[in-house]
Amino acid sequence: MKRLPTDRQLLTAARRAAKNAYAPYSKFKVGAALLCKDGSVVTGCNVENASYGLSICAERVAIGRAIAEGRGDFVAIGVIALGKRGQDVTPCGACRQVLAEFAPDARVICEGRAFKVKELLPAAFTLR
Ligand code: THU
Repeated sequence: MKRLPTDRQLLTAARRAAKNAYAPYSKFKVGAALLCKDGSVVTGCNVENASYGLSICAERVAIGRAIAEGRGDFVAIGVIALGKRGQDVTPCGACRQVLAEFAPDARVICEGRAFKVKELLPAAFTLR
């Protein structure tokens, strides 16, 4: 069976996606790379809007894209922002809630540290 990508490889994929971010307002480009159990990786970047509140984070773009492709069984998500180097970023509250819905057991890999979704959002609201 094919080896799963390493945390570093996941962050590299996230960084590549971040380059496609549409972030003319914040100038803060973020990328996410979602790893599925079968080894496939689905990426996302933040997509902003002139109506600021409509902006979508990289993590939720990746999750929505993966769901639309019929994927599940998410084991990890790498998140990174473009900066001088890779800039450390942790998922915002809204993304934590969406991760709790679709990837409650996933690891969240950030630059230099990793968390479990349940650590980032303990006692998450859930109906299942
Ligand atoms: N952003 C993400 O895409 N992911 C995060 O984890 C934090 C924030 C985006 C939203 C917005 O487009 C920009 O970063 C600045 O907040």
